[in-house]
Amino acid sequence: MESREIRQKFLEFFEGKGHKVVPSSPLVTDDPSVLFTTAGMQQFKPYYLGVKDPMSDFGSKNTVSVQKSVRTSDIEEVGDERHLTFFEMLGNFSFGGYWKKEAIEYAHEFVTEVMGLKIDYVTIFEGEEGVPKDEESERIWKSIDPSIRVRAFGRADNFWGPTGTEGPCGPTTEIYVDGIEIWNIVFNEFYQSADKTLRPLDIKGIDTGMGLERLAMVSQEVQTVFDTDLFVSILSVAKSRIVADHVRSAVFMISDGVRPSNSERGYVLRRLIRRAFVYQRDLKPVVEAVVNHLSYKDFYEFNLNEVWSVFETETNKFKETLDAGLKEFEKGRDPFVLFTSYGFPLELTKELAKEKGIEINEKDFEERFKKHQEMSRRGMEAKFKGGLAGHSDKEVQYHTVTHLLHQALRDVLGHDVSQKGSNITPERLRFDFAFPRKMTDEEKKRVEEIVNEKISEALPVNRVILPKAEAEKTGALHFFGDKYGDEISVYYIGDSMEHAYSKEFCGGPHVSNTSELGKFKIQKEEAVSAGVRRIKAVLE
Ligand code: ALA
Repeated sequence: MESREIRQKFLEFFEGKGHKVVPSSPLVTDDPSVLFTTAGMQQFKPYYLGVKDPMSDFGSKNTVSVQKSVRTSDIEEVGDERHLTFFEMLGNFSFGGYWKKEAIEYAHEFVTEVMGLKIDYVTIFEGEEGVPKDEESERIWKSIDPSIRVRAFGRADNFWGPTGTEGPCGPTTEIYVDGIEIWNIVFNEFYQSADKTLRPLDIKGIDTGMGLERLAMVSQEVQTVFDTDLFVSILSVAKSRIVADHVRSAVFMISDGVRPSNSERGYVLRRLIRRAFVYQRDLKPVVEAVVNHLSYKDFYEFNLNEVWSVFETETNKFKETLDAGLKEFEKGRDPFVLFTSYGFPLELTKELAKEKGIEINEKDFEERFKKHQEMSRRGMEAKFKGGLAGHSDKEVQYHTVTHLLHQALRDVLGHDVSQKGSNITPERLRFDFAFPRKMTDEEKKRVEEIVNEKISEALPVNRVILPKAEAEKTGALHFFGDKYGDEISVYYIGDSMEHAYSKEFCGGPHVSNTSELGKFKIQKEEAVSAGVRRIKAVLE
């Protein structure tokens, strides 16, 4: 069955069973615990928690949707051929309406009768301390089809959620066709708090998710999702699956308002576009193939000019870096540095090396790559722990302006100025630095002027991750006493590392451009201890 028809049939089926059809929420939402929408249930979280009333909003306790979703748990891994970064999730939901029996019966009916597929086997939750084995689901499956195979698994396979740090979650039952998991049915009966404790929810909810791409794959009897009608026309112009996947994701992200930048969502988009561009310089036909794809055209709205102009601006900017990287490569540069500084994936470096007859130490690269991944993962986790809310926009702005202030102080007072500490709240920044005397009014004024000049120059804020020795060679500022790992995150403010106004070892996050900062003003300069001064400053 064609993907268009599958979407339609799914919505109609559940509408016929008393579900209200709800449009997909955008990929970008205000849920601070996730970067992108990753599941259909996300827009319904308040209904599971009883915070909102489904009857007054939908006239029903049950809903159905086709949700745009992005999953990039590790953006460095994006683009291996097994993972899609964007997919559509078919889901039916209930907030205190129906429970296991109906959920399983509906799923069985849709898969076997509407889709005409044969269920291979199903899985249920095997139980753990505090949560019993899901024997009820097993009985329900057996009552529908006594010959069905039911397998039981633990938390890793048959317990879902929460998204982000806390939220609704529960045991699942999954449906397999041709050995492939196609449908995940979650019985949302718990709330997991940030400290991982479970408490029962007052309202028992159903949350299901079935990937459209996978369902199309088994229905169309093809080997991979890339062989389905969702990809065929895109792959007729894209040089590889990676390009097809990345461009498709990027088109959807841009249409939902994401723009390339160096932090968070924008960074994911930037990497997708750049990665695609590395493999294929002429991306326009691929963008057009996505935008004009019949399966998407009916269902989503795109603005080709807008989408293409984002691609064009980003790839024009990146082209220079890429060409510079190619030159470095010809000079025999370390492939890992090419990866971190110029965004060259290893496969590309390998291809280039083969062409030029250069040997690459793959093992060394893989090891450093793993460490690099570990570091970005930890960075992400730290961010989620504080909740993105932990770094409010204002704090991120103060963080970036602190870098500008640090450099401006060195410009005005000399290079002996060194940072002793800094503290940021959403209201102000505080910066402690070694300097033997009180600053004069002229000096303070000059520092303010320089920082405001840099703000008005709208300088981009960039991040690279470099091996320690490389990072030190950039001359970026850092605390000499501090211990740093082998791979260092360096932020520079300016068009290139060479011409940057400020360079510092730093984990971020930062704004993507100094134009986002507002007007900088020093409020106070005072002594903290002998030889250490403190500046308090604000952005207005
Ligand atoms: N929310 C569940 C999932 O994403 C259905 O698999």
